[in-house]
Parts: sequence; C-alpha cells; structure tokens
Amino acid sequence: MAQNHSIRQHIIEWLTQQLPLEEETLDDALETPPSPDMGDYALPCFPAAKELQKPPQQIAEELSYNFRPAGGVEEAVAEGPYINFHVDRAAFAEEVLSRVQRDGDTFGHAELGQGRRVVIDYSSPNIAKHLGVHHLRSAIIGKALYNIYSALGFECVGINHLGDWGTGFGKLIAAYERWGDELDGEPGVSELQELYVRYSRQAEDDPELQQEARDAFRRLEQGEEDAVQLWEKFKEVSLTEFERIYDILGIDFDRYTPESYYNDKIEPVLERLKESGLARKSQDALVIPLDEYDMPPLLLQKSDEGSLYATRELCAAEHRWDEYEFHKALYVVGGEQQLHFQQVKKALDLMGHDWADRIVHVDFGLLKFKDPETGEARTGSTRSGDMLLLEDVLESGMEEARAKVRENLDVTGRDLDEEDLASTVGVSAIMFSDLSVRRHKDVIFDWDRMLDFEGDTGPYVQYAHARLCSILRKAGRDVNPETADPALLELPQEWSLVRKIEAFPSVVRKAADTYEPSAIANYLLDLCAKFSSYYSMGMKEDEKRVLCDDPDLEAARLLLVDSVRNVIKNGLNLLGIEAPNRM
Ligand code: ARG
Repeated sequence: MAQNHSIRQHIIEWLTQQLPLEEETLDDALETPPSPDMGDYALPCFPAAKELQKPPQQIAEELSYNFRPAGGVEEAVAEGPYINFHVDRAAFAEEVLSRVQRDGDTFGHAELGQGRRVVIDYSSPNIAKHLGVHHLRSAIIGKALYNIYSALGFECVGINHLGDWGTGFGKLIAAYERWGDELDGEPGVSELQELYVRYSRQAEDDPELQQEARDAFRRLEQGEEDAVQLWEKFKEVSLTEFERIYDILGIDFDRYTPESYYNDKIEPVLERLKESGLARKSQDALVIPLDEYDMPPLLLQKSDEGSLYATRELCAAEHRWDEYEFHKALYVVGGEQQLHFQQVKKALDLMGHDWADRIVHVDFGLLKFKDPETGEARTGSTRSGDMLLLEDVLESGMEEARAKVRENLDVTGRDLDEEDLASTVGVSAIMFSDLSVRRHKDVIFDWDRMLDFEGDTGPYVQYAHARLCSILRKAGRDVNPETADPALLELPQEWSLVRKIEAFPSVVRKAADTYEPSAIANYLLDLCAKFSSYYSMGMKEDEKRVLCDDPDLEAARLLLVDSVRNVIKNGLNLLGIEAPNRM
C-alpha cells in the first residue's frame, strides 16, 4: 500500500472517473456509515443524480456494476440510493494505525491553510464590569476554534476587543471623583460596578449629575490627565480580574486591541461615510440607512457624543483587513448580537469592501446556571442584583472537583498531586460541558453533572485517556508499529475502533467548516464509549483482553490502544483541554 495514497483516496479517485463530480465534492460527500454492516464508506448518489438526470438508485446500480476490486477496496454494493464500499480490513487497519503512529501529535492536522490567516475575536468583555458568562463561553469556543484552525495550517490571530470606551465611563469617572475616597483601599471590579449603579440611579432625576458625567467623558476624550488616569486604573483592575479567569482556563490572546484603540481612526471613517453619501443625518443622529435590506439603520453617532459600538466595529474590521488580509474573520459573540453583525457586514459591503463576506458571526446560545437550591436553570446576568459571580462559580466548582477527585481516585501513595489533578479535572469539566453542546443550544452549568466520571463529560474523557496510558504502562513493552500486525485485529469492536480513528481528521475539518468544536467533543465521547465496551468485554473474556497470552496479538492490540490514546489526546488538546497520563 502506497503511504500517501489511502484507501479512501482510492475510492474518491475511482468515483471521479465514474461521475461528473469534482474530487472535493466527493471527498465531502463520502461518509462512514453508522454501522459496519452497511459498508465502510458510503456515497449518497443524490448529487450525481441531479447532475445526470437519473434516479440515484440507478446510479448506485451502475457504479456497483462497473466496480472492480483494487487498492484495498473489495466490494461496492448498491443499497437503494447509496453505494457502499467494503474495504480490505487488514490493509485498512495497517494504513490507519501506521498513519497515527507516524503523525503522533499531529494526527488529525492538515496543511489546508497554506499560510492564510484567520482572525478570531473572542471573549472581548467590557471593563469595569465582571466577566459575563457569555464572555466565558465565547472565550472557550473561540480558543478551541483557534486551536482547530491552527492545526489545519491556518495562521490564527486571537484578538480581545476589550470594551473600554463609551459615555458610561464618564459616569464612572464622575462617580469615582465623588465617592472614590469612601472606598477601602484600591477598588475591585465589584466596587466599580457598584459605583456605576449608584451614580446611574441618582443621575436619573438629577440633571446636574448627568451634566457632570458628560463633562467627565469629554475630559476623557480630550485626554485630560486626571480623567485618563482613572480610566486607566479601571482598565487595569478589570484586566487583572479577567486574566485571573483566563489563566484558570488556559485561555490567551495574541493581542488586546481595545475599542479605544480606534479613537483616532473614527473621524476619517465618518468623513468618508458622509462624503460617499452612505451615512446620513437622521434626527440628531448619524446613521447608515439599511431599510433597503430590511434592517434598521446602523447607528454611528448620537447627537453630540463621540463614537458608538458599531462605528468602532467598522474601524476595527478595516484595521484587521489592513493588517492581516484575512481569509476569514470570526467573531465569537452571543446570538443576541446577530442583528449588529448583519448590519456591520452590510455596511462594510456598501463601503465597497469585497472582503465583507469573509466575516463570520460565530454565534452561540446562553449559559445558564443550575440553582443549587431550586434546581432551576437561570442566566446569571451581571446587571441583576442577585447575580452569580463567575469567579465564585468557578471557585465552588473547583472545590467540588477536589472532592470528586478524592472520592473517585485514590491518590494516596501514588505520584500524583491532588491539587493539580483537581484543577485539571475542574477545568476540563467546564470547558467540555461548553464544547460538547452545539453552539446554538443553551448550556446548563451543573457541577454535579459536569463532574460525573461516567457521564458525557470532560473528566470522563480524561479518565479514559489515563486508563489507556495505564494499560500501556502495565504492558511493560513498547508499542512497535514496525512489528505489530494489525491484520490480527479481528474482533468487531476492534474494527469499529479502527474505523472511528480513521474518521478523526475529517471530524476536525468538519469542526472548522461549521465552527463547531462540539463535533470533536462528541466524537471523543463516542470513541471513549467504543473503547470502553471493548475493554469491558476483555474483562469478562480472557482471550479478548488487550494484555493477553498471545504476544503477537497483544502487540497488535497495544498498537490499537496506543492509537486510541493518541487520538483522544489530540482531540482534547484541540479543545484546549489537558490530557493527564495518570488519574
Ligand atoms: N464587548 C462586547 C460585549 O460584551 C462584545 C464584543 C465582541 N466583539 C466585537 N468585535 N464586537 O457585548
């Protein structure tokens, strides 16, 4: 078997000779049927049917008639509108397992990007407020997409578009100047939030306070030192808190470009928009009318105020294009900003930027918390009085993770640091619960469920990985792909694992194409379940054990075990989750 010409590739090439479809189309369409009885690869014939104006059943029949065994493919059977291929299992297992061994940490990676850039905007919280749960979810999904696109050979740029500008900071500065010395020492984010709320309430029916806030914002805009210093303090305090949380989760950014970064770029953009006639005065505001496109106008500037969120967004997008000429720009932001991104894309398009369609709003559902007392799921809004502080939630989760680690894993006398393990397990619980659910669905934060070592959780996948490592340690011999013979893997469960391993690279690609890290998370759950049923069978029947009496069979099984381990590790790493060797 030629190393770079896989059995799958052979099928695709044969199909390109038979059908009027592009190789790429066939590559996307060729699927792995859910059960091996239905064949090892299947092609639905509907697209070809459309092209050829024939019923798909007939196409499947004709393909089957024309087929001759070759290149590791033994049979092609028509099954309704599908053509199912059966491969030479020994050759297939040999091909797949040796590829995993050869590629190791990079199995599943590819050179698709060819140096093209993908800019990813994730988390992007607002200063002087606590990190919201949506900023957490955005961070987790964004960082996973970063890892996935990087693995596919794209050059990624991770950006935190920190919300640090707006008239609200006028209020906060005015509040701090009034009441700052009532505070005990340096403020934290909670204190800043309280000051802000207090000021806003009082200002509601106090025009003097309103004026004071406007003046304070103007001072900030004009760069007056006192105002700027306060604003910088707010920023620093906020970043310290944000980074504490990012650190816990192992999330980082290539750069922070806060909204204020665009301050001096706003005027020229507004000028350009006015000159071109795209932006118009409407009442007191400057807007880009979008009614032609069934959207409300994009608000650029209110009466006498500086710039708005959308204006800074337009500047940021142009800046990103100038700097990176991105292949794609992903904005990992909650679904509630759907309209904003539709408007922004349309505005950029109207401004003549043909790259506007490279912008993708990677939106997602809500993150809710299960109330430990009532059992109800609710959103922890940072505005409500009874908000749940994210940091507290994380801390209490870590506490539970510690308890779970103690209860499930006996670390005494073993070379394990309970504290390290607890934090790894706690972090994986959070990240995985977020990443295993399709983006659009809401996620419910429920520590009990998230930390279940037997549920569909991060700790479960980590535990499976550690168990595989332990089998390999116990074997006391090296896995040797040169001498191990995969043809000996004849059990149906072994075959099913080989097939599953082979599917990994295409799952990674699918995760990228659909911006759905959940494709990888769910793949891992399935792989672990398959391994677990294989393993428990061996516990019952001696001759099906990995570590068995037949040294050749054992060598082949160890090769399989090591390959599964390798894939789990790569998959977890793409999700940004550690894979400890011992648990
Ligand atoms: N700061 C915004 C918020 O908290 C999110 C920003 C997302 N990124 C962007 N380029 N708009 O709602």
